[in-house]
Amino acid sequence: MKKAKFIVFEGIDGSGKSTISNMLFEKINSQTGNIYKTFEPTDSPIGSVIKNILNKRIVSDDKTIGALFLADRLDHIQNLTSGMLNYLEKGIHVISDRYYYSSYAYHVPMLSMDWVINANKVCADLLRPDIVFYFDISADESLRRLNLSRKFHDLFETREKMEQVILNYKEAIKREGKKDNVVIIDGHKSVNDIFDEVWKITSDLLEIKSGKN
Ligand code: ADP
Ligand code: TYD
Repeated sequence: MKKAKFIVFEGIDGSGKSTISNMLFEKINSQTGNIYKTFEPTDSPIGSVIKNILNKRIVSDDKTIGALFLADRLDHIQNLTSGMLNYLEKGIHVISDRYYYSSYAYHVPMLSMDWVINANKVCADLLRPDIVFYFDISADESLRRLNLSRKFHDLFETREKMEQVILNYKEAIKREGKKDNVVIIDGHKSVNDIFDEVWKITSDLLEIKSGKN
């Protein structure tokens, strides 16, 4: 059996992660039937505490928030029934919308980049992505899309915070990107052009022969 691959999508809110990761899921599913799609923060009890912090129903502090995302990720990797390692060990490819680069990007400068990277080493040791697609778009474009599509609903969706998150993503990719095979995608391109680029790389990685739609 070929080794199953772990594919991660990263980028600011509105960068196009769900659009492209859903398309990728559908295409791999139709061609191989051998794919599982998931996301962070998860739907676990830890993830639901996080969601309550993001929508301001629960007040918390930066270190607790960073630690909760880490705990959510550890469970996401290792949970005996729903953990990603379960799927990968069965030979099923996994796509995750967000992984530890989101922590590098969203928790700095409240926590130092060193703290977040070191804390997440436990996750990197358990499960490193085979590829990370980072969707690079401006805060302006993201806000334009979010305004069109949905209401602002969490702690991070203001222009200043987004600019900081973009800088953090870039710094984290400079520091860690080679280890995780990070590919930077120009998120301003059309959905079709982006999908073609993502599909070419993924079909090579998964050794899927028929690249045509
Ligand atoms: P994310 O999952 O990163 O938050 P989404 O995939 O939900 O982003 O996209 C946010 C919005 O932008 C959606 O309304 C989506 O249709 C739109 N969108 C996604 N990709 C593009 C693109 N390449 N060009 C224009 N609009 C896009
Ligand atoms: P997400 O569900 O992707 O948001 P949305 O549905 O609005 O696109 O993620 C929720 C928020 O959590 C998002 O703003 C990014 C943030 N986040 C962190 O702060 N740290 C993390 O480790 C992760 C995975 C997400």
